[in-house]
Amino acid sequence: MSRLADRPPRRTGPPRRNRPAQPRRPAPVDHARLAAYQLLRAVSAEDAYANLALPALLAEHGLGGRDAALATELGYGTVRAAGTLDEVIAGCVDRPLADVEPAVLDLLRLGTYQLLRTRIPRHAAVATTVDLARTTDNGRAAGFLNAVLRKIAVDDWQGWTDRLAVGASPLRALALRSAHPEWVAAAFADALGEDPSGDLAETRAALQADDERPQTHLVAWPGRITREDLLAASGGATGPYSPFAVRMSGGDPAAVAAVRERRAGVQDEGSQLCALATANAPLSGRDERWLDLCAGPGGKTALLAALAVERGARVTANELHPHRAELVRKATAPWDVEIREGDARSLPELDGGYDRVLLDAPCTGLGALRRRPEARWRRRTEDVPELAALQAELLAAALRLVRPGGVVAYVTCSPHPAETAAVVAAASGAELLDARAAFPGVDALGPGPTVQLWPHRHGTDAMFCALLRKR
Ligand SMILES: C[S@@+](CC[C@H](N)C(=O)[O-])C[C@H]1O[C@@H](n2cnc3c(N)ncnc32)[C@H](O)[C@@H]1O
Repeated sequence: MSRLADRPPRRTGPPRRNRPAQPRRPAPVDHARLAAYQLLRAVSAEDAYANLALPALLAEHGLGGRDAALATELGYGTVRAAGTLDEVIAGCVDRPLADVEPAVLDLLRLGTYQLLRTRIPRHAAVATTVDLARTTDNGRAAGFLNAVLRKIAVDDWQGWTDRLAVGASPLRALALRSAHPEWVAAAFADALGEDPSGDLAETRAALQADDERPQTHLVAWPGRITREDLLAASGGATGPYSPFAVRMSGGDPAAVAAVRERRAGVQDEGSQLCALATANAPLSGRDERWLDLCAGPGGKTALLAALAVERGARVTANELHPHRAELVRKATAPWDVEIREGDARSLPELDGGYDRVLLDAPCTGLGALRRRPEARWRRRTEDVPELAALQAELLAAALRLVRPGGVVAYVTCSPHPAETAAVVAAASGAELLDARAAFPGVDALGPGPTVQLWPHRHGTDAMFCALLRKR
């Protein structure tokens, strides 16, 4: 529930009585709500990514400080809660939601979010939404918006989700209350080993963590800056797990000179740990040729490249999409990295094979939902089998390219078991190592031999890592 969005709206007062009727004066433009509304339009009409669209809108409206915080809270909050908000709205309109004009539906979502998930007074949530309808050329829907929002205002989030959950399974009830699709809640419960008909306490914590703003993590690239120097330069705190991690408590990472000078980068600590596990997995024999099979945009390649220098190894990075291969080139400019472009499944074998291969596979990204407000509703459960089939083929390619005795790190930014454990279980010709040993000092890694990180446990993205040694 928002603590931020408790500011009374900027409005003109009600018309005084006993005076001749005056033409209605338009309400002053509420730029924070207008920016939030435009964000919703961009997400629903143009498939925009909210985190990419918002900064331009804040700049366009000249918003800073509390106004920017309000626009962000209302925009991101509404996008995150959209599926449950739609179920509430559907119960209060006299037609299918598909028959409500899309712009008006976005106004309803914004109003409903303010009513149910912020401390904004009810009358203000309704009145500002009706004003916004007029500002945005949707004035003809003012009466409709007013009537629907007044119906919604009779209860709060808990009350509405209780009503929607009558007779539902514990999993559906949790999905509604945490504003996630039920299939995502089911995947998290499965990954956490919780009984879907039980109390789902940890699944609840994992889903709630998706609504929290992630801290920015920095990586001090070995050989380019020490962590101590990065701590001093950024004012951040020591990351608890990666020897290169600094966690910032706020502020813009681009304001840190070491980041601008490419001595340090922005990288989730979980991603750092997976790159480190790739480099540190036990290996006998030659250890000189490392391959990052699906490298774009190159965050893990950069850390691997920095580690490779210290270890006398050389990194090859492959990426399917040329524009993303270009990002890898930029990310790895300080090091000697061989960049290839093409489908990893048809990458030619290296004479003698690679010693270490990182496969950071394309996935649903369910482990980074806190970074992508719209992603939980845009992803579909139908996406999973297709991705899982691609992941299996990529893992087979990784095992073809690594030498016997060499190691493949299979990594996803998703905890969905169909993309993690099931893909690894179906791989042949390799032995599964206990990956927990490659995550020293990290607690609560689960029963092994694979590793699953979680935002609510580790403050990182929900990265999965399996280490496979080729027979
Ligand atoms: C999860 S991302 C990798 C993130 C990267 N390791 C990092 O840390 O910055 C997966 C990448 O695989 C690429 N990809 C998808 N299909 C591929 C394929 N068949 N062959 C090679 N790369 C592929 C995607 O374009 C994407 O850049």
